[in-house]
Amino acid sequence: MSKSQGSIVVLISGAGSNLHAIAQACAEQRWSARIAAVISNRADAPGLGVAAAHGIPGLVLEAAERPTREAYEQGLMRLIDAHAPDAVVLAGFMRVLGAGFVEHYSGRLINVHPSLLPAFAGLHTHRRALEAGVKWHGATVHLVTPEVDAGPIVDQAVVPVLDDDTEASLRARVLEQEHRIYPAAVRALVEGRLRVQGQRVRMLPPEASR
Ligand code: GRF
Repeated sequence: MSKSQGSIVVLISGAGSNLHAIAQACAEQRWSARIAAVISNRADAPGLGVAAAHGIPGLVLEAAERPTREAYEQGLMRLIDAHAPDAVVLAGFMRVLGAGFVEHYSGRLINVHPSLLPAFAGLHTHRRALEAGVKWHGATVHLVTPEVDAGPIVDQAVVPVLDDDTEASLRARVLEQEHRIYPAAVRALVEGRLRVQGQRVRMLPPEASR
């Protein structure tokens, strides 16, 4: 890999639909970066098949392979750092990451969360949105800080909650928006187009360079 080309590492645990959206945008829009590796904490994650379909090397590091969370995260950092990534992308990676890990990738670590943060941080966001009776729900892309789901917000997308929505129908509507906003945010991060001031993030347009 020539180092003038940016490098992205994507962490997954599940289906990998966001990985697919990012890989597709990266190829179709000819980003000045490529996905160097996909790492899953589950050997059975369907997203590993998505990585293979895009010709991206997939690696597995399961928590059971390491005695402690610290040891696991050290191992994960070694795998990631082998690719000297400009962006580390959490795409449905279902593990809370410790402060040491998060600080190591400060400014390079990005996540998509299926709610309009700061509403519904944590798990089961669609069920909780339905229970709370909100009329609008959505997705948030944010930079990752040690406090879970609380980092500076890069972008958000809003969807209506319909009277006949189920958890599944609401999830599908939100996911469609994740696939729209997450690739654009990852591209901006890897191209050095995010300007962060406290909790506020400005995304410069594609023609603006580092
Ligand atoms: C997405 O809803 C994302 O917001 C959440 O986990 C899910 C991952 O889906 N963090 P996929 O594996 O990208 O299909």
